[in-house]
Amino acid sequence: MPRQFLTGAELSASELAALLDRALQLKAAPLSSRALDRRSVALIFQKPSTRTRISFEVGIDELGGHAVVLRSDELQLARGEALRDTMLVLSRHVAAVGVRTGQHEMLEQLAKHSAIPVINMLTNLHHPCQALADLLTLREAHDSLAGLRVAYVGDGNNVARSLAILGSLAGLDVAVASPAGYALEDDLALPADARGSLTLYADPRQAVDGACAVYTDVWVSMGDEHTADARRAALADYRVDDALLDAAAPGAFAMHDLPAHPGEEITAEVLYGDRQRIWDQAENRRHAQKALLELLVEGA
Ligand code: CP
Repeated sequence: MPRQFLTGAELSASELAALLDRALQLKAAPLSSRALDRRSVALIFQKPSTRTRISFEVGIDELGGHAVVLRSDELQLARGEALRDTMLVLSRHVAAVGVRTGQHEMLEQLAKHSAIPVINMLTNLHHPCQALADLLTLREAHDSLAGLRVAYVGDGNNVARSLAILGSLAGLDVAVASPAGYALEDDLALPADARGSLTLYADPRQAVDGACAVYTDVWVSMGDEHTADARRAALADYRVDDALLDAAAPGAFAMHDLPAHPGEEITAEVLYGDRQRIWDQAENRRHAQKALLELLVEGA
């Protein structure tokens, strides 16, 4: 069976730690690896993307490979070809496939029929590649992640879920604050070898107490547009601003997976100020994903 990366829980704690170390090496020497030498990786997009597409395409190129970017409406999938048949064909041509879709079940179906590694580039439930970049950003700020507290404030969505899964695997204590109706599930299964924890709060100030980073995401994610007004009303007290950062640990910085809506989930002062590592976080997508590709393709 090929290695898969669907939720992030496929990694062991030691593999995750090694992957982050490797990502730091690749960031320092971006052209030092030829892990994909003349091999191709398919990237299937059913949803828009800026960071994910750029970071995967450039990262694959830096590893000596070639990215085959496929919009799902241009594939025979759009005309009813089976997921199984699509994967059987892709498996004959490329070394790995990344998929961005609104349905996590679709990703699972693709992985079930795949002879090559399948990478989750975002589903409605999980965004584990984002979490790898988040952890790399925290590793750059702190030598060890073990026992660090990181707060996520806002919608308990795919980004929050992946931060909880991979963050706890890396040893973080993840505190998530959300209003009623927008909370992460309180029975979210953390990896068996997770050394960190997940705690849910309603009050953002409780969540950020002692946190070295305060993370947020958009209030209206892709697919949630029909509930935009209700979401903005419910999440209005969950904005990341200087006052909330003041309530966190000294030196705490803001994080955001982007795209941002300044004035909604984060103030422009924080987004473009010096109390954030958001733009490093966006860059770190490439370095973390290159380390992931090395692990998956070399281990296949
Ligand atoms: N964070 C993230 O996934 O960005 P994109 O939607 O632009 O890929």
